[in-house]
Amino acid sequence: MEKNNLLDEVEFYAKKTSAYIEVSKNKESVHVRPMKKEDYEQVYDLWLQIQGFGIRTIDDSKEGVYKFLERNPGISTVAVVDNGSQEKIVGAILCGHDGRRGCMYHVCVNKKYRKKGIGKAMTIACMRALQKEKINVVSLIAYKNNEVGNQFWHGENWNERQEMNYYDFILNDENITNFNE
Ligand SMILES: CC(C)(COP(=O)(O)OP(=O)(O)OC[C@H]1O[C@@H](n2cnc3c(N)ncnc32)[C@H](O)[C@@H]1OP(=O)(O)O)[C@@H](O)C(=O)NCCC(=O)NCCS
Repeated sequence: MEKNNLLDEVEFYAKKTSAYIEVSKNKESVHVRPMKKEDYEQVYDLWLQIQGFGIRTIDDSKEGVYKFLERNPGISTVAVVDNGSQEKIVGAILCGHDGRRGCMYHVCVNKKYRKKGIGKAMTIACMRALQKEKINVVSLIAYKNNEVGNQFWHGENWNERQEMNYYDFILNDENITNFNE
């Protein structure tokens, strides 16, 4: 497999039945699996810990995330440490599609667990899920000042599209974004 060809890696892992990766010297293992509604509280707590993240009052509420998961079953992903009695969520990606294009939101890994391949494993899991639904392209927004985030996507060989502008229009003023410090 050619190094850094993410699409090859997606296809490589698609042939495996599960994605388990070792993340620490003490043999703690991290399991990447689809996000469930019951994960919401832990995922939300994780989002609050991520510096610079913008958390939306409606979209990121329990109801908002449940709506997203119902529309996009089995595509969003979490990374969990399982100590036998309980799962601790250390990474998450909200991922879905509109029938044509896939989108990733709130891609994050707990600071203590970064640089161990968890972000990459979750990204691959989401991409596999999108491929299964015959989605041909996936995109995301990274703030220009997010050095770590942009380095991650560059490292994974995603295309930074310089030739286009991103447009949006707010449809509901009550969906307020609060940025983490
Ligand atoms: C971005 C983020 C999800 C990466 O998660 P991670 O588990 O640490 O990433 P991985 O270990 O899978 O890294 C895969 C590759 O990404 C690149 N990368 C990841 N973190 C990097 C960093 N801090 N600096 C430079 N390159 C980095 C490397 O190429 C790395 O490959 P390598 O380990 O072979 O060098 C994590 O840093 C994070 O949660 N950041 C805060 C939230 C954020 O910015 N999210 C992205 C929003 S667009």
